[in-house]
Amino acid sequence: MSKSKKFLITAALPYANGALHFGHIAGCYLPADCFARFARQRGDEVLFLSGSDEFGVAITLAAELAGRTPQEQVDHFHKINSDLFAKLGISFDLFSRTTWEGHVQTTQEFFLDLQKNGHIEEKVTEQLYSEKEQRFLADRYVIGSCPKCGFEEARGDECPKCGGNFEATDLKNPKSKMSNAPLILKETKHWFLRFDHFREKLSHFISEKNWKPNVKNFALSYVEELRERAITRDSTWGVPLPIEGTEDKVFYVWFDAPIGYISIAREWAKKTGKSWQDFWCDEKTTLVNFVGKDNIPFHAIFFPAMIMGQNQPYNLVGDLPANEFLNLEGKQFSKSSGWYIDMQEFLQHFTADQLRYCLAANAPETQDSEFTLKDFQMRVNAELVGKFGNFANRTLVFVHKRCEGKIPPQNKLEEIDLKFLADIEKHSSEIAFSYEGYHLRKASQQIMELAALGNVYFDAKKPWATAKDPATFPDTETTLHNCLICLRALSEASAPIIPEAAAKLMKMLTTDDVLPQSEILFQKVEPEQLLTFAEKLS
Ligand code: MF3
Ligand code: ZN
Repeated sequence: MSKSKKFLITAALPYANGALHFGHIAGCYLPADCFARFARQRGDEVLFLSGSDEFGVAITLAAELAGRTPQEQVDHFHKINSDLFAKLGISFDLFSRTTWEGHVQTTQEFFLDLQKNGHIEEKVTEQLYSEKEQRFLADRYVIGSCPKCGFEEARGDECPKCGGNFEATDLKNPKSKMSNAPLILKETKHWFLRFDHFREKLSHFISEKNWKPNVKNFALSYVEELRERAITRDSTWGVPLPIEGTEDKVFYVWFDAPIGYISIAREWAKKTGKSWQDFWCDEKTTLVNFVGKDNIPFHAIFFPAMIMGQNQPYNLVGDLPANEFLNLEGKQFSKSSGWYIDMQEFLQHFTADQLRYCLAANAPETQDSEFTLKDFQMRVNAELVGKFGNFANRTLVFVHKRCEGKIPPQNKLEEIDLKFLADIEKHSSEIAFSYEGYHLRKASQQIMELAALGNVYFDAKKPWATAKDPATFPDTETTLHNCLICLRALSEASAPIIPEAAAKLMKMLTTDDVLPQSEILFQKVEPEQLLTFAEKLS
């Protein structure tokens, strides 16, 4: 019944200006990875891409503050984040970067098509200028009061309080982020994209989507206010314009970054000899953009509009699983105020599976959620070790002890056995349904329910008692046979979330003759292992 499908899965390109924290992983990269793993497992064709977002003022500003050049800054954090993804087992087909040389061409092509199709305007406008610093300042270099909600520390490109997106010139009382100096308006030439040309097409497009209500409503309300926006900036760090005499200007980072999804696909094709068009330009492919909630307007509106203005038949976003935020022990993650857990350090003490499971179980799907060390310890010890690991271990130990490590036959099935087998099937398909709908939190809960069912069945069937009497030994065999079926289902169902343990378990269940010796699937978390992390958070 299930036909295999084709998915182009992207995870928001993280800025290469800081190390990723648990919040990014729980909200975007882990859900994307679990979905990619699930789809591959089901036999779908998958291309899963991301890369560092390396231009724009997020980078130059952080570089300036850190006393590095922008290139040093992005090299440094691209490496750190690539390593983190590798350690966490995020199964990208390619994690690249927007400074790879092919990105310039793709971005310029996008601009030229938009220009050819009459969506670009060139205008001399007044932009914010710092006389003190002798330069134009835009986006995050500017702070001021939000034009929408009045929040006083809004940035030039968006308001962290209300999520509003606007231009720096819309801010009240604009000041330089670097020097706090007041800013004046000064004339400079820029290129504008007439987003308003796409209003109707966009609202039609969004109305037909089956997105989460909050994502959809947020997007629809945005379409109303669409107007032209500058897509260039006065800076030298960015993708250059394909226009002579514009050496002091580059594309705005939010123009080039989403094009990265395409340029990185091209890079992947170049590296593998496969076709990127097969994913980007075939309407049978579903494009799924995993993002955090602050990225919704760019993926639901601005980038789709840019694509609508192209002469290539690029796919528009199909699904937009946008998550809320994950907090740490009740407060927002903040590296600057020390409220964070160094992930690299954390992964020296704990396994990727342990962390992945805990983040999946707490994924901020419908509201902001929390990571706490106590919850981490409980999830690992009570759930992974206590339920899942325990069921695997007791079953396999028994098979080795009582059946010489061979998969025992399934003898006569009584009602309790039939019920158990039916429950396994039911849970497996419910778990698949959860993955399909991007409900990781639910999937992890259902996996634990399945493990719990296994334990309950094992206890009820008492194989240790039935094994003592030759008359009831056939029932021991049936019990163990069915428990092995459950373990196989557990391994499959959990593989997207805890791939290492699931693979290890599958290996322990696979044999031509005698099953390999069983190994421990999960280590317990001891309270003292958490002390160093807890100290930093008090
Ligand atoms: N770097 C942006 C952020 O971290 C996300 C860019 S997503 C892309 O918020 F679509 F532009 F690639
Ligand atoms: Zn605001």
